[in-house]
Amino acid sequence: MANKIPVGILGATGMVGQRFIQLLEQHPWFEVAWLAASERSSGLAYAEAARWKLNTAIPERVAKMRVSDASPNGAPKVIFAALDSGIAKELEPRFAEAGHAVITNSSAFRMHEDVPLVIPEVNGDHLKLIDRQSTRSRNGGFIATNPNCSAIGLVMALAPLHRRFGIEAVFVATMQAVSGAGYPGVASLDILGNVIPFISNEEEKLEAETRKLLGELHNGSVKAAPFKISAQCNRVAVEDGHTESVSIKLKNPVNPEDILNAWNGFRARPQEIGLPTAPDQPVIYDAGNDRPQPRLDVNRGRGMSAIVGRLRPCGLLDWKFTVLSHNTIRGAAGAALLNAELLKHDGYLCERV
Ligand SMILES: NC(=O)c1ccc[n+]([C@@H]2O[C@H](COP(=O)([O-])OP(=O)(O)OC[C@H]3O[C@@H](n4cnc5c(N)ncnc54)[C@H](OP(=O)(O)O)[C@@H]3O)[C@@H](O)[C@H]2O)c1
Repeated sequence: MANKIPVGILGATGMVGQRFIQLLEQHPWFEVAWLAASERSSGLAYAEAARWKLNTAIPERVAKMRVSDASPNGAPKVIFAALDSGIAKELEPRFAEAGHAVITNSSAFRMHEDVPLVIPEVNGDHLKLIDRQSTRSRNGGFIATNPNCSAIGLVMALAPLHRRFGIEAVFVATMQAVSGAGYPGVASLDILGNVIPFISNEEEKLEAETRKLLGELHNGSVKAAPFKISAQCNRVAVEDGHTESVSIKLKNPVNPEDILNAWNGFRARPQEIGLPTAPDQPVIYDAGNDRPQPRLDVNRGRGMSAIVGRLRPCGLLDWKFTVLSHNTIRGAAGAALLNAELLKHDGYLCERV
């Protein structure tokens, strides 16, 4: 513990909170020092409070830790947050006001002008928005966010193409795993053998977040990417992994080899500076004609890569393909952890925070 940064997890008992605990076990820079959840869990040992759903055991030290109230008193300066957005809207500013770095999964502040929405391989420079937050100059506190779990895989696949060729239009239809709805999430009678063609606010988030993530930082604010995007979101009976069927229109004609090279050769700062949670290859193209599949591919790149397949011409736009990403690792806890690693590397988690 001596050399590691102590971190807290808000919403530690939920699906994303559990992933944080799993990913932080053995982390070289951070160590779990504080756990908080709702009144239901407060005061209980973590193993009693959490309905643990992962296929690794709860780390022994964490299992015995008491779950605290979700209040900044006594919490470490670095907080990973995995709260429902309604409660996040109230609690996250409270922690930032009290001088904590809040690195969050919730959608509550993602689209705020002075809050960075970041995928480190795509737009790590947007973290500079933190310097616009009033709490930052007052006491060091701030809020930094990662995207919605369906936006992250899509944007990782689009980013190398947007950079090289320019994107003009995107159509995306998602098939999203049940773990994306938290626990207990969707009732089994609703989802077994079924597809639910509605996830509240998901299409709006996917469209708006994709354009902010691929937007440019100019004079202290983000100008959203100008392309058109239309999303259709579905919940399917898959445990982990969001699959998305994507069609794109590019500014100029390109060969399929150019697209494959852009994906396979895509590397960014997290890979160059060797952040511990960064995958070696952020975007992996699988040439199999029936890939990617959640059951076979979701854990590639330790769950941190976007797996792309089935590139082919599109009769409506220019190209179509499939992308898969792990919704609670790359799409949630792993995304926030990578943001925290970049924040530490760039000096945002030292000094007062
Ligand atoms: N699941 C995903 O794939 C995914 C991906 C990206 C982003 N997200 C976002 O991450 C957040 C968490 O999602 P999840 O799937 O982990 O949800 P979840 O399984 O429902 O967990 C919610 C967590 O919030 C806690 N909580 C609820 N009410 C609270 C309150 N009043 N005060 C303090 N803590 C409270 C719960 O504690 P108790 O156990 O004590 O009730 C639990 O720890 C959401 O904003 C979600 O949209 C989820």
